[in-house]
Amino acid sequence: MPLDVYDKIMMLAKRRGFIYPSFEIYGGSAGFYDYGPLGSRLKQNIENLWRNYYLLQDNCVEINTPTITLYEVLKASGHVDEFTDITVDCKKCKQSYKVEEIIEKNISIEDAFNNDKVKCPTCSKNLKDPYPVNLMFSTKIGIEQSRDAFLRPETAQGIFTNFHLLYRYGREKLPFGVIQVGKGYRNEVSPRQGIIRLREFSMAEAEIFFDPKDKTHPNFEIVKDEKLYLFDNEKEMKISLEKSVKTGEINNQALAYYMYLTQKFLMSAGVDPKKFRFRKHASDELAHYAQECWDAELYSERFGWIECVGIADRSAYDLSSHINSSKTDMYAMRKYDKPKIMKVKKIVPKMGVLGPLFKDKAGKIQTILENMKVNDIKKIYVKINDETLEIPKDCYNVVEFEEKQIGEKFIPHVIEPSYGIDRILYCILEHNYDEIKKKGEEYRILKLNAHISPIKVGVLPLVSDSRLIKIAREIDKNLRDAGIATYYDEGGTIGRRYARMDEIGTPFCITIDHDSIENNSVTIRDRDTTKQERKKIENIIKFIRDKISK
Ligand code: GLY
Repeated sequence: MPLDVYDKIMMLAKRRGFIYPSFEIYGGSAGFYDYGPLGSRLKQNIENLWRNYYLLQDNCVEINTPTITLYEVLKASGHVDEFTDITVDCKKCKQSYKVEEIIEKNISIEDAFNNDKVKCPTCSKNLKDPYPVNLMFSTKIGIEQSRDAFLRPETAQGIFTNFHLLYRYGREKLPFGVIQVGKGYRNEVSPRQGIIRLREFSMAEAEIFFDPKDKTHPNFEIVKDEKLYLFDNEKEMKISLEKSVKTGEINNQALAYYMYLTQKFLMSAGVDPKKFRFRKHASDELAHYAQECWDAELYSERFGWIECVGIADRSAYDLSSHINSSKTDMYAMRKYDKPKIMKVKKIVPKMGVLGPLFKDKAGKIQTILENMKVNDIKKIYVKINDETLEIPKDCYNVVEFEEKQIGEKFIPHVIEPSYGIDRILYCILEHNYDEIKKKGEEYRILKLNAHISPIKVGVLPLVSDSRLIKIAREIDKNLRDAGIATYYDEGGTIGRRYARMDEIGTPFCITIDHDSIENNSVTIRDRDTTKQERKKIENIIKFIRDKISK
């Protein structure tokens, strides 16, 4: 069978140190890939380009939280109960499958599995009954008195559980965005799509907190006429941000704005615009936390349209859940123009009675009572760790007093653009892979954008002459001192050396020849045009910098 582009890219990626399967010396394990020297740099460049959009253009802040996450966090977030894939095993060959991958779209699971209609894709025998499998890797923290935990399935929860601290850090203003870049983990049922479905993967996520009464974005005006490529599961359309919100195609400005930012980032990273679209989630595919979600999908020859970014309106789902479960004040404040004097009833706990009665729970009960809304109180029940406690009347007083209120509390809504970096990286490789014949041989070029390519400049003395090598070494060092990644190569014919640089996507090659000794000049070859320009050595850094920043 001829190799497809996926095979070709993965072969190149392995040979040249981009990406390759992990643990190969022990037989490998599906869903795990290593990034080699060039792959690590490429990934870093993509992540840093992404950071530019969110940290600089959008003024978000970045944090870093543990990848091991307490059970309580993921119980509250709904992942313990809802983060499942419906799975089915073969009666004969014991292979497991994710149901949605083996049944046709638009067919319900009951329909598909009634009367053994669907057979095992491997051995064509009957399948067992489908069952849900939680996708999180579980672990324990500590040995003797351990606590249950999971490897995080998303970086987002690390942001939500910090919201009250971050909101204060951001001087209590909304909208306010926080990003995190790092690993996520999903114990996929049976990953069969190489780099596209990983069990440990890199995510770049932004959580932007909004006042639910105002899902506008301060930058919307500037970009409202830009066009988005939308696919609503029936038809494709190219439509302005403004129109997409006006017609209700996209629910709010904030969502449309982050879709635009995503589109801009992906194009700048080197995605082919013809292989890009936003697809709206149908209601039955929405994640448990999402109200509306658009996927940025990239086209790949082997896998078709791949979800690479999800831009979801998570509403108040996560913060409400963490407020309810942790009893932490994670509200935001909508300030009044002038403070208002309000008559309020409050519960004042009597710690002298509450303490002896509820012992170590008394502190938590005190906080809950103090924050409780008081209307007509008959009986008070408090829930702590799944236990419901009745609080006797002699444990508190209800007091009415006047209070100066500066605003009203509310739970912010969240818009979340969440990026799968590994998938984006693979698609960038595929979209920029070119293959031509040169002298009857296959010649491969990765036409990566200069600002993301791992190596910016190949430094090549034309022949092995100590005078040329001395100049070349000096140019190489000066470029690296200026922060420009180089690859110095004096081995083999110049044609072979150009080919090695073209194959890893190096946009420029500097060749040092005998004229360099005479007049301090070199040639700079452009990967895509193969044209060479002669430049003075002293102008090289500026020339390359200008090209890279474009
Ligand atoms: N945070 C988005 C996701 O888990 O897919």
